Amino acid sequence: MKKINIGLLGFGTVGSGVTSILQKNSYDINTRTGSEIKVKRALVQDLTKKRPENEDILLSDKANDILDDPEIDIIVEVMGGIEPARTYIITALNNGKNVVTANKDLLAAHGKELLEVASKNKRDLYFEASVAGGIPIIEALRKSLTANRVSSLIGIINGTTNYILSAMTDQGRDYTEVLQEAQELGYAEADPTSDVEGLDAARKLAILSSLAFNTRVTIDDVFAEGISKVSKEDIKYADELGCVIKLLAIAKNQEEGIEVRVHPALLPRNHPLATVSGVYNAIYVVGDAVGETMFYGKGAGSLPTGSAVVADIMQIARNMESQAVGLTNCNCYRNYPIKSSDNFTTGYYIRVKVKDEPRVFASLALFFAEAGISFASIIQKPRSNEKAEIVLVTHPCKESQLRQTLNSLNSYSKLDKIYNVIRMETNGF
Ligand code: NAP
Ligand code: HSE
Repeated sequence: MKKINIGLLGFGTVGSGVTSILQKNSYDINTRTGSEIKVKRALVQDLTKKRPENEDILLSDKANDILDDPEIDIIVEVMGGIEPARTYIITALNNGKNVVTANKDLLAAHGKELLEVASKNKRDLYFEASVAGGIPIIEALRKSLTANRVSSLIGIINGTTNYILSAMTDQGRDYTEVLQEAQELGYAEADPTSDVEGLDAARKLAILSSLAFNTRVTIDDVFAEGISKVSKEDIKYADELGCVIKLLAIAKNQEEGIEVRVHPALLPRNHPLATVSGVYNAIYVVGDAVGETMFYGKGAGSLPTGSAVVADIMQIARNMESQAVGLTNCNCYRNYPIKSSDNFTTGYYIRVKVKDEPRVFASLALFFAEAGISFASIIQKPRSNEKAEIVLVTHPCKESQLRQTLNSLNSYSKLDKIYNVIRMETNGF
């Protein structure tokens, strides 16, 4: 049986998931690919750190021990970050090695460059694990749905924030406590700011929308807002309104251009994505031929992510066996503009504290009316010290109209505080 050696760049949460799957399922993996697949070396920063026991894997803190090793056929980059990961992947491809990466930060910023280097060298570059952990969404967009023109895609594609919002909703727990738990479980990025501020999901959305619409979308094109301002109170009000709050990633191909946005949103409880809880991710894709499709599974963690990485390794092993190269180019043959956030159209939930006295509500209503916004529902709760808390829910309006209203509201003398403004997705997709 032909031997295929893997060089791991990184041996943390995902790297150890990869070695564990390769060990546990070795008989099936080797039989299915017709090759004996083994991890030969792994690059780490700290050689003294305790690792999963595996006597066969040589550890090194020097990248060249792996990148220049002629016996290594496939480099698996699971170290994260932009540099030195970008340079290592380019070196590996130029050295004639195939590459698997789980690194969405890198792909969302430099995907085009890396795919071009792979193509020039006639080598494979696979990245299934970069979006939604174990869910085979990249393969679906690149292959299974490729006969379609995709019109929209909406998903929950960050496990950490979905885990946090689910625990806050179902168990009434505090944001900080649940974030710490998600980090301990290996869901969060090394710096969880990118999870909670929506950047991790924005990077994944850039990758998905480039593939779905065959146009280049980078992280800079994606509007991103995180969940750090969502409170238990907002979650309770959402419940009163028949909704849950989720961090949504939305991409639409529209006449004015590609709309790409990530933000928390109130979603009706009967929407299929509303029941996606915990670390689970789901992506809803609409194609002109296939209609509506939905992909669901664990979006983070050692084994689910390792599952996607090992599947890529196996595909490369098959390609090597048949002396073929898989899909290397990004296929961005269209050049669509990106839609301005001013023209995003959604409903809004606005929670404010105002003086509880006559005419205040009429003035609030006037600010919205002047911008052409109408209300869908209103909740008012009496509060102490002659202050009232009001939740205003609007019908869909343009983001520019909402900004005009918030400017007027901010200069209103009877306003005590705007607690939060959260978008509301009630339209179909
Ligand atoms: P992690 O647990 O922090 O592991 C990173 C590994 O890379 C560690 O072994 C670390 O060495 C090594 N490393 C980092 N920088 C290095 C450098 N400059 N030189 C040498 N070694 C270096 O990260 P992870 O959660 O496995 O994530 C890895 C990648 O997968 C990231 O791109 C992430 O976005 C992506 N991803 C993660 C998940 C998930 O659920 N965790 C899911 C999908 C995709 P030490 O062990 O010595 O510190
Ligand atoms: N931090 C990411 C998440 C890991 O929580 O979804 C998977 O990409």
